[in-house]
Amino acid sequence: MIDNREKTESYILVAVSTGSEAETAASLDELEELVGAAGGEVRGRLTQNLERIRSGTYIGTGKIEELKELIEDEEADGIVCDDELSPAEMRNLSDRLDCKVLDRTMVILDIFARRASTREGRIQVELAQLKYRATMLTGMGRALSRLGGGIGTRGPGETKLESDRRSIHERISRLKAELESIRAHREVNRARRERNALPVLALVGYTNAGKSTLLNVLTGAEVFTEDQVFATLDPTTRNLKLPTGENVLLTDTVGFIHKLPHHLVDAFRSTLEESRYADILIHVVDASNPRADHQIQVVYETLRSLSIGDKRIITVFNKKDLVTGEFIPRDPDADASLMISAKTGDGLDELTAVISRLLKEGRVLIERVYSYSDAAFLARLRKYGEVLEEEYLPEGIRIKAMVPRAFAF
Ligand code: GTP
Repeated sequence: MIDNREKTESYILVAVSTGSEAETAASLDELEELVGAAGGEVRGRLTQNLERIRSGTYIGTGKIEELKELIEDEEADGIVCDDELSPAEMRNLSDRLDCKVLDRTMVILDIFARRASTREGRIQVELAQLKYRATMLTGMGRALSRLGGGIGTRGPGETKLESDRRSIHERISRLKAELESIRAHREVNRARRERNALPVLALVGYTNAGKSTLLNVLTGAEVFTEDQVFATLDPTTRNLKLPTGENVLLTDTVGFIHKLPHHLVDAFRSTLEESRYADILIHVVDASNPRADHQIQVVYETLRSLSIGDKRIITVFNKKDLVTGEFIPRDPDADASLMISAKTGDGLDELTAVISRLLKEGRVLIERVYSYSDAAFLARLRKYGEVLEEEYLPEGIRIKAMVPRAFAF
């Protein structure tokens, strides 16, 4: 996946701290990880405390000189700013520093471009990149040509950075049409799934929390997991048989992140919206991460922005094996919270028990007479529901049962 023939590019990270310095440092730690995941190397950091970002140059003029020296001393290929830059900021910094200028969004887009594996994932990433480039083309001029190759220039499509805006917009329209047809296909699958009435559980969480690992250990599925951000870009759905014998579908989703570029949220909306059709969300938290609280908030904000706020949620505090000292697994916004380790298997029995309990609570009691010709439907009802009474009458079969909501219509 990582092209070893490419030279490792080195960068200086640049941030403007408008709030707490600890927050900025943590955000830069994450940015460093992102640059690493994109195949780059970080040689240094420069932070400026400002009341707000200096429009036009991102940082103050004096700091630009300091940054220039740092770039020379460290022999860095460029800088990565921790916020999304405007085209003017990008151009001005590039002119003054005479080096490659990237922002957080470009790095994230680059990682997505490297990781997307399905046709849909690749189209979504390319769309996000094209939209971003279309805004950036306004006046970026030399800054674009200075990018050369490497981070910020990779993409799944053929479109070159230099393509003019018109061809970018044409390509956007074509990709959108293709995405629509993939979505229509997905709708058909979803409708089929709903007819089968299997409850759906979606794994959501901050990137690297352990969602894919949990999916694998619960279902025996082979999903790409890596100790890197954004290992998962395509939702993967697997069947899970609970100890009670019930079958449910478990679906993995793309990881959320602080300052997730809005072009990406838009592009991945359909993937993220898988969670909207879920009966229960399993919110996976990396309990060993000192920023776990902040990450929980980012996940809830992202869910709200996708209008997925009203689901039943089980918050699992994962990586218990790495947590030292006392840790109280509690998320007041969740219907249940517990601590697990997807790696060692600790707490998984409790998790499946909680899933069964919540599913049971989400069920409804029905009492109805079904025609003898409804045999196929009744077979499914027996499979997914719990039949409490059954009586064979001349006009049909009277059933009293606890069933998933989909059976109640
Ligand atoms: P994205 O695809 O980026 O959203 O990540 P993810 O949430 O799917 O995380 P993934 O399952 O890829 O796990 C990230 C890293 O955490 C991997 O290196 C896992 O091996 C590791 N990991 C997951 N669960 C545990 C755990 O319980 N304990 C420990 N020690 N490591 C874990």
